[in-house]
Amino acid sequence: TSPFAPRHLLSIADLTPAELTTLVRNAHHHKDAIKSGTGEVPHTLRGALAGKTVAMTFSKRSTRTRVSTEGAIATMGGCPMFLGKDDIQLGVNESLYDTALVLSSMTAAIVARVGPHSDVADLAKHSTVPVINALSDLYHPLQIIADFLTIAEIHPLSSSTSLGLEGLKIAWIGDANNVLYDLAIGAMKLGVDISVATPTGYEIPKEMRTVIEHAASTSPRAGKLIETRVPEDAIKGADILVTDTWVSMGQEEETAKRLKAFEGFQITSELAKRGGAKDSWSFMHCLPRHPEEVSDEVFYGPRSVVFREAENRLWAAISAIEAFVVNKGKIQ
Ligand code: CP
Ligand code: NVA
Repeated sequence: TSPFAPRHLLSIADLTPAELTTLVRNAHHHKDAIKSGTGEVPHTLRGALAGKTVAMTFSKRSTRTRVSTEGAIATMGGCPMFLGKDDIQLGVNESLYDTALVLSSMTAAIVARVGPHSDVADLAKHSTVPVINALSDLYHPLQIIADFLTIAEIHPLSSSTSLGLEGLKIAWIGDANNVLYDLAIGAMKLGVDISVATPTGYEIPKEMRTVIEHAASTSPRAGKLIETRVPEDAIKGADILVTDTWVSMGQEEETAKRLKAFEGFQITSELAKRGGAKDSWSFMHCLPRHPEEVSDEVFYGPRSVVFREAENRLWAAISAIEAFVVNKGKIQ
């Protein structure tokens, strides 16, 4: 890569533990400043993207990612340009190479939601402006910055330079997917343990396990990854229970097969009790939620922080766009 190549955010794996910590801290700081004060945008953000356009190429639906990134860009005075799959030639009728060159010649950044991760990696390879992954089949970094902000709010941010999350335990019950992979990578970096229960045939692929193990090697105080087929085993001693849909976008034709394979994996209060979660356990889900993976009683219950987690997507997007677009990848 040339010394002038922009820095991209394609996965939490692209961040050092200190950088991930800073992105979460900055998100917290911006949330606090904007929500608790007069509502004014801090001067470091105000007009930071004035006169600039950010292309948002989305080949799949989105509520939270679209609204939070458009909102973040608007907060900084920039113009988000949403380009859905029927609007532009994203890998259809035109190569990703050509699209990357054209988009980056006219914009300050590209926020891209794609199917295969190679699509966003290709865009990044050829783009002359920063590319931010807004979800691929492998990673969802903006979600994970918001998730660690949410966890840090429940387990208050320590005053030291770390987030003070070391030793917490996350239990992921359900499908091994894009959200899990970046969450596990982030957990390794922040010293958070994560135990993952998936049904047979739906485990973390070997290559991804290697990526997660590598993330652990980047941290002076790494978290541990534990895998099991038994939800109760994963839940034992967990502070936070997390899941996501069993049928990700693009897997719709496998719906019947998946619903059958994941029987017994629905998060309920009864399962949390049987598994021996900590008394203070909380529940997280990136949304959109489907009824199978979590009972209404947990999802809408007092332990659930899912709507706070959704709101935190805005603060995470502000933090990430500030770092990668305004500050050109300098995370401080
Ligand atoms: N969590 C999340 O990324 O939601 P959307 O698909 O609605 O953007
Ligand atoms: N795993 C889900 C996440 C959506 C935000 C999907 O890829 O559809």
